Amino acid sequence: MRVTTRLIVSIVLAAALVSAGWTWFQARGERARLLEELNHRGALLAESLREAAEPLAKRADAKALARIADKFGGRRRLRGISLHAPDGKTSVSTAGLPDFSPPPRPGEAIDCGLIPGGALHRCAAAFENSPGFLAVFQDATYVDAGVREVWRRGFFRLLTQVLLITAITLWIVRFDILAPIERTAEWMRLQRAGEGRGAAPPPGGLLGSLTSEAQGLAKSLETARAAAEEEARLRHSGQSVWTAERLKEHAKERLRGRPMVVVANREPYMHVRRDGKIQVVRPASGLVSGVEPILKACGGTWIGHGAGDADRETVDAFDRVRVPPEEPRYSLRRVWITKEQEEGYYYGFANEGLWPLCHIAHARPQFRAEDWKHYHAVNRLFADAVLAEIEGVDEPCVMIQDYHFALLPRMLKEARPDARVSLFWHIPWPNPEAFGICPWQREILDGMLGADVLGFHIQAHCNNFLETVDHALECRIDWEHLSIRRGEHSTLIKSYPISVAMEEAAGPLPAKDELMRSVGAKGAILALGVDRLDYTKGIVERFLAVERFLDKNPSYIGRFVFVELGAPSRTSIPRYRDLVEEVKNEAGRINARFETKENKGWKPIVLAVGHHERTEVARWYRVADLCAVTSLHDGMNLVAKEYVAADREEPGALILSRFTGASRELRDALIVNPYDIERVADAIREAVEMEPEERRRRWESMRETVRERNIYRWGARLVDDLGRVRLVDDDKPA
Ligand code: F6P
Repeated sequence: MRVTTRLIVSIVLAAALVSAGWTWFQARGERARLLEELNHRGALLAESLREAAEPLAKRADAKALARIADKFGGRRRLRGISLHAPDGKTSVSTAGLPDFSPPPRPGEAIDCGLIPGGALHRCAAAFENSPGFLAVFQDATYVDAGVREVWRRGFFRLLTQVLLITAITLWIVRFDILAPIERTAEWMRLQRAGEGRGAAPPPGGLLGSLTSEAQGLAKSLETARAAAEEEARLRHSGQSVWTAERLKEHAKERLRGRPMVVVANREPYMHVRRDGKIQVVRPASGLVSGVEPILKACGGTWIGHGAGDADRETVDAFDRVRVPPEEPRYSLRRVWITKEQEEGYYYGFANEGLWPLCHIAHARPQFRAEDWKHYHAVNRLFADAVLAEIEGVDEPCVMIQDYHFALLPRMLKEARPDARVSLFWHIPWPNPEAFGICPWQREILDGMLGADVLGFHIQAHCNNFLETVDHALECRIDWEHLSIRRGEHSTLIKSYPISVAMEEAAGPLPAKDELMRSVGAKGAILALGVDRLDYTKGIVERFLAVERFLDKNPSYIGRFVFVELGAPSRTSIPRYRDLVEEVKNEAGRINARFETKENKGWKPIVLAVGHHERTEVARWYRVADLCAVTSLHDGMNLVAKEYVAADREEPGALILSRFTGASRELRDALIVNPYDIERVADAIREAVEMEPEERRRRWESMRETVRERNIYRWGARLVDDLGRVRLVDDDKPA
């Protein structure tokens, strides 16, 4: 039996059962009501006839009795009257009545009831002055007729219900269940056949959750297929590009199956409460974009500061939550720190001290003893969390990220000499003189040298570090192998340029006009900037260059628009708060300069300040004609690489500051000095007017670089060196 038939038969049976039960109750009630009516009427008649009929019994006067009966015969349903001796024998009766009627039951003045057979009803009343009794007979057939009528109506009601239920069920099954299933099945068939890449799944209707699961499945299939194609392509072309799969296998082999533990202050997923609901936010962070693909590929644990206001509500008893929420691949373990600690460790020492110290961006570093105390304490807190996490694991691998944890490597190594520890410094390292102004430079350097592998983005930062250590610490530097030996321990110093993964086929291009309208931007040529609002990013300098470009090339007024997606960052620090104002004011000033009646609604700079989800930023990368990265100083800058890695139809153009690590690799970008406003303005013109062929050549070359030097290669090189570390010291550099 088909599902639909089964469904309908079950619904009909259930409806019939309910309806029959209900009708049975109704029929029983109706029967009782009609009988009650008969009893009542019969009793009244017997009562009123008793006195007049009593003398007729003695005389056996049938005629007089017939007259009385006739008189009352007009009453509906009266069938006759009979008078009886006490033993029940009939003395006299109207025609057609039985010869005998049982006397009224003792104690009953008037005894009423149906006569067996059910067609007649009798009420018997004893005479008052002589023995014997009177019986009044009524027609009782209408009681059964009334009950039958109730059943008949019940049947028709059931029939109507069945027809309606069947029609509605067929409708729902056809249009709300079968149709979406057929559409989803067709969509899945196309996905399986590789014909419907990027096509949105059909609306799921009642089966919405099933459709979104199918979508997830299709995405995984697509990813697996893309990975397989990429692998095949690479094998075919003899290249050895790193992929997620390859890194996974490599890490398994190098780390011999040990879980990977990543420590980074910024957590990759924050749970926050918005409008009373818990939402997941992905912070704007190059570190997160760079490191997460590795944990996604290899699994393990990310230990980070639980900074979201709903973070505590979403962890288990061990402060862990599985992420990414839509497809969990690794654990996020949250460490809790107090507001005071956050002020001192994160805002204070890390971001008002080390951050400006390492970036040459003309912000004076602030060093406060109180901040240093908190920095030390929070490093200890994280050390405890890591030690708990690696307890019982032999030779665990810990990959520490960034300047928030300079002291952590030493703390870990002291407790677990068998641990393989790396520290990757995501920001630049200045020269020894600049670093020397830090009152705790020796402690910081010593803490860092607890690591077995210490990584920077570029060789220049490694060299600066080696020289800084040379100036400040008692140690032996092996300039040939680029390692530092302090006491009994060696640290390898090496450059690992961080990167991104190439974007997989992302489906149809978003509508550029629509996207621009969403932020109030207008213009044929779209230039893009994506930054945390940080004074090192050269955002004001970029705006000045846009102004200069329009001054020098007025034909672009009304046609060129620069959209800046700026994510507020570290706003507890006055310098960052001031920057937001500065950037807004500068955009406002420049816009006011170029606004004219002819260009109504157009402005050269559209500043979209706020948190922008990665998926949203990815849409902008795909349609922007050019992207400008003008950092005054930057370890790497992953925005530049993300733009190049985007799945675009047409080649883009990249303007890139020479003070970013990325400029060492993306040689075909338009490399600029962001302080040189004139040159950046010219680079904008160059990007806009570049010959298509030249544009394509540069674009392909940059894409090749990112494809080859991707994030999996970054992870693989680090894992490789970490796996090779010699834990038993033999006085040779690792
Ligand atoms: O650039 C250094 C860095 O730590 C990045 O690695 C990261 O993307 C960025 O700063 C984010 O900073 P925060 O975590 O303070 O928001």
